[in-house]
Amino acid sequence: MKKIHSLTGMMDLIGHKTDKTEIADKIFFTEKILRNIFQNYSLSEIRTPALEDEGLFKRSVGDSSDIVNKELYSFLDKNDKSIVLRPEGTASVIRSMIEKKIDNDTHKLWYLGPMWRYERPQKGRFRQFYQAGVEILGYEEGLAELEIMSLICAINKELDIKNSVIKINHLGNKDCKKNYCKELINYLKPMSANLDKKDLDRLNNNPLRILDSKNPETQNILKDAPVIADYLPKESKDLLDLIKETFSNDCNIKIDYKLVRGLDYYTGFVFEAISEELGAQDAYLGGGRYDDLCSQLGGKRLPAIGMAIGIERLASLINAHEINKTLISFIILSSKIEQKTYKIAHNLRLLNSKINLDIQLSDGSLKSKLRRANKDNASYALIIGEEELKSNTVIVKPLLDKNSEQSTMNLNELDDFIKSLT
Ligand code: HAM
Repeated sequence: MKKIHSLTGMMDLIGHKTDKTEIADKIFFTEKILRNIFQNYSLSEIRTPALEDEGLFKRSVGDSSDIVNKELYSFLDKNDKSIVLRPEGTASVIRSMIEKKIDNDTHKLWYLGPMWRYERPQKGRFRQFYQAGVEILGYEEGLAELEIMSLICAINKELDIKNSVIKINHLGNKDCKKNYCKELINYLKPMSANLDKKDLDRLNNNPLRILDSKNPETQNILKDAPVIADYLPKESKDLLDLIKETFSNDCNIKIDYKLVRGLDYYTGFVFEAISEELGAQDAYLGGGRYDDLCSQLGGKRLPAIGMAIGIERLASLINAHEINKTLISFIILSSKIEQKTYKIAHNLRLLNSKINLDIQLSDGSLKSKLRRANKDNASYALIIGEEELKSNTVIVKPLLDKNSEQSTMNLNELDDFIKSLT
């Protein structure tokens, strides 16, 4: 029969120590740490559906963004309605605020879940990937920017990310953006014959994105182009300086006036964290201020700033690891006594939540079970056979300290021993 495969660009994540899935364990650990950090920053969780009306993204992320142009994972449902698997979380969060009529209030939110973009898969780029996001809603420019940057520093520190650069920029106010775009177009138009099709499209639809071009020829042309710094109001430059000064002890922050983001909704401060360890797809998080999105989607004016983290990319960079609990391997020597002995293991688990107790469920010799316990790095093996069950005892064998002898304990002694483990 023909084998069924997972869809292109979509991964199975299987935890538990098999070498092939090492990244899965890192991803699960990264998610755990992120949840803790979000709680420490007093953010509340929001979960929105994975499927949305296609129109939501056409209106929010923008027709000139790659996401809407070519990456929407869309299909018609049974009623011929255009549905998309969400490519990002921000638009859904704002849709939800408007729908619940809470778009006139302040909210500090986080989310974590799968996103889909119909891209050509490559290293660090998947069709289904996970994002953790933060959206701080209802706050004007100022402290909210500092809060987001502080979060990024905390994430870098907790996960021990090395070689990270946080690029920051400001797109200025509306007038500044308009004036700058006009000058950029005036500069580029005479050289448009030298631009590739992608950059030519950008020139016509969203000129700022040309700054982001990967084409070396375009980058060469841009060397003498006007820079946004010359058009930025003083407050915007002051904010960039303040952020750099506040966090430069903890994070490597660089002002990059060429930084633009791929989505259309940004209005002010923008940022991206990159690491050279990631290769071509080097951004592991990005975001910025988007004060107009809520009103553009039919809601109230809701100043907002947020970011999203690419979990697979971040997890591949972490140097921190899980602090393992003491692992105890519970070995039952005969299938005849399995059911009676199970209760002993069950009771031990309730005595001390700081231990991991692994009951070896498979058949096999004592030797093979001890081999497995050693491979898993268990601290102790608890061994119980028919003799031990009759006398209400268990053999306790230390596995890490090769000089310690094994001992036989009665069940009360065993309880005390388990309680004493930290
Ligand atoms: P974004 O820059 O499109 O921003 O995505 C954020 C992060 O998601 C990227 O930096 C990257 O790490 C990861 N990512 C994006 N596409 C892929 C992919 N195909 N495979 C693997 N990882 C990927 C946003 O999504 C905005 N919603 C961020 C935001 C929140 N802005 C304001 N609030």
